[in-house]
Amino acid sequence: MDRKKVTIAELQQKKASGQKITMMTAYDYPTGRLVDEAGIDTILVGDSLAMVVLGYDSTVPVTMEEMLHHCRAVSRGAKSSFIIGDMPFMSYHVSVEQAIENAGRFIKEAGCDSVKLEGGTEVAHIVRAVVRAGIPVCAHIGLTPQTATMLSGFRVQGKDAESAKALIQSAKDLEDAGAFMIVMECIPDFLAAKITGELKIPTVGIGAGKECDGQVLVYHDLVGLFERFTPKFVKQYINLSPMIKEALVRYKEEVEKGAFPGPEHSFSMKQDEAAKL
Ligand code: KIV
Repeated sequence: MDRKKVTIAELQQKKASGQKITMMTAYDYPTGRLVDEAGIDTILVGDSLAMVVLGYDSTVPVTMEEMLHHCRAVSRGAKSSFIIGDMPFMSYHVSVEQAIENAGRFIKEAGCDSVKLEGGTEVAHIVRAVVRAGIPVCAHIGLTPQTATMLSGFRVQGKDAESAKALIQSAKDLEDAGAFMIVMECIPDFLAAKITGELKIPTVGIGAGKECDGQVLVYHDLVGLFERFTPKFVKQYINLSPMIKEALVRYKEEVEKGAFPGPEHSFSMKQDEAAKL
């Protein structure tokens, strides 16, 4: 039976009733379909696609047009999961007007249900303005890859009391600004549990322990399609890369040997018609 579209109210109800929220990234039509069919609550078309799909070294170079292109493909495949489009670096920083305009494109042009943007208290005014324009916003605190250089690299955030307090304040400011959910990346599990307990809106963790209201992983990490590096918080559920490579090598060998295509993959012609040629 077809699932109905997941709503923000259902996500918030899950927090209230202690049911875990599931989130998975997807970047194309077939993956959008699979994640949707698996019954996962929310799909994040993450700017991680810059690295795992487009081969960039970081998430910084990905553009609005690239993000919209992939969001469109995912939204054609996923009809029930709640879709979050990730706003790329510098698409919401220059002005509030620019942020609203770009957020609107994810909804109007790409079939997303909401947007995500990175940052804490310093972006709360942007979150407020985008929400006031009628666009649901998922916030993202802790390790924020778009500004990893400012954080001196990809490292766990909020390890000392001072930075942990700043993250708690950020989470509260983002909730107050109207964010409907907060992704928390790479923070100690004690801090993630504390923030989760203090907020009314759901938290979704990645490298933030099991006390968050939900969990998110990058699809390519989960299925073993990204081999450049594997963060500690990743659990690989299947390793597709060697399986795909083996299939490709077999295909190459069979074509070279003339073993593919066989008669079962070919189309025949009646003998009398062939004789006329
Ligand atoms: O871009 C992304 O995939 C993300 C997740 C890691 C949360 O932001």
